[in-house]
Amino acid sequence: MQIARTREELWSFTGPWRREAVRVALVPTMGNLHQGHLALVQAARQRADRVIASIFVNPTQFGDGEDFHAYPRTLDADQRMLAKAGCDLAFVPDAHTMYPLGLGDAVRLRAAPSLANTLEGEFRPGHFDGVVTVVARLFNLTTPDLAVFGEKDFQQLLVIRRMVEDLGYPLQILAVPTVRGQGGLALSSRNAYLDDEGRQLAGRLNEVLREAAGRIASGDADREAVEAEVRDRLQHAGMRVDYAAVRRESDLAVPGAGDRMLRILAAAWCGTTRLIDNVPVSGV
Ligand code: PAF
Repeated sequence: MQIARTREELWSFTGPWRREAVRVALVPTMGNLHQGHLALVQAARQRADRVIASIFVNPTQFGDGEDFHAYPRTLDADQRMLAKAGCDLAFVPDAHTMYPLGLGDAVRLRAAPSLANTLEGEFRPGHFDGVVTVVARLFNLTTPDLAVFGEKDFQQLLVIRRMVEDLGYPLQILAVPTVRGQGGLALSSRNAYLDDEGRQLAGRLNEVLREAAGRIASGDADREAVEAEVRDRLQHAGMRVDYAAVRRESDLAVPGAGDRMLRILAAAWCGTTRLIDNVPVSGV
């Protein structure tokens, strides 16, 4: 596996690929890789001739008081995992490579408000603006034909799809289902903050969401009752809930009577660790 740290190093690899007209996939990450990221690399591998994985902890998507400085950085292990998974090129830029004019004077994008200001956006204002800003830069630098994202960050996936559609990026977005560990806990770099007890508690999040999805699908309960029940059950288990919401899968709007494709999304704190998860509701 090759490694590129600067724009010039990156282009020394991607330039020839472009000229050979090979199909290039990008897997954007913030590092501290786990099986969930490797599933993205595998999906990319199956659909492209060359796979680039980027590792960059993006400062513009972290709010004041969030974990930007504490975010786990494990570059050597990440590179070994990527090489083993069949990645061709790891792009590991520093902040200057991604934001050469500095953060203060950087050109920034604003994510589509209807998608970005709800759910996560209510609790992490500006987060998705930072995400689209860095993802657009990664797309511009790597010019992929395909970019792969996990459904674990479902709202991020929709926000990025909308950016691609609105700005006309000539690339395909592929969504990969969430990879889960023991007890259904969605794999996440932030799980590294959990101790054994926290991990057990965190597993409840998926269990409660899955049961709620079943209740809606079977027509047992209405949306608002299920949302309240999810919040109560998570709180009772010992979590602090930011939100638990049933939304339309296509655009995260509050569903109407005729909507069939739904998702339940939630964010909750296990001690000092904030977790997010979502599950589809099928058969409504
Ligand atoms: O999902 C992530 O890890 C990040 O939000 C992303 C897409 C790599 C942008 O920094």
